[in-house]
Amino acid sequence: MFYKTKETVNQYIQMAKGYNGKSLIEKLIQYLPEGHVLELGSGSGNDIPILQQHYKLTASDFSPLFLEYIKTQYPNVEVKLIDAKSITLDCHYDGIYSNKVLQHLNEEELKVSLQSQKEILKDSGIICHSFWAGTGQDNFGNIIHKYYTKEELEQIISENYNILNIENYKEMEEQDSILVIAQVK
Ligand SMILES: C[S@@+](CC[C@H](N)C(=O)[O-])C[C@H]1O[C@@H](n2cnc3c(N)ncnc32)[C@H](O)[C@@H]1O
Repeated sequence: MFYKTKETVNQYIQMAKGYNGKSLIEKLIQYLPEGHVLELGSGSGNDIPILQQHYKLTASDFSPLFLEYIKTQYPNVEVKLIDAKSITLDCHYDGIYSNKVLQHLNEEELKVSLQSQKEILKDSGIICHSFWAGTGQDNFGNIIHKYYTKEELEQIISENYNILNIENYKEMEEQDSILVIAQVK
């Protein structure tokens, strides 16, 4: 399974060097200046030091291999093994952040995930998630890549959240990505 073997995790760690979500986190800070944030799908952890400048942070991933790597790089961060498809935790967070993670869930799984995120957010808690823009779905190496339009995301997310900001941005090419920041209804 992609992201769950040493080879694919090492490939991702190499590929992700030099990339981070600084510009997304700067947007999140406008709505959530401080608090306890849970990051889903932290991967190689490039966003961890940026998030830690502003928040108490819990990093997570569904891949134990990424968590092992994160612990070697950021020994002071709390880490949890969490599958974004089925989040069950006793803790409550001020914010939940992910950078290019939820595209690995199909649309039904995304709806369930957003509902379970709502359950572990404090009142007025904030979500901040990035997606690949487009339509349809690909399967690379047994892992889904689901693409969304802004309109589709607005519809799905507004079932449980008030959308505070939704915008296209450039990851590799103009307008290839979408950032959504929303607050629990
Ligand atoms: C494209 S990488 C992004 C990693 C990191 N957020 C970054 O910006 O570099 C996708 C990450 O999501 C994780 N992931 C995929 N499906 C997941 C799931 N169902 N639950 C939690 N993490 C998942 C992968 O293990 C991988 O770390």
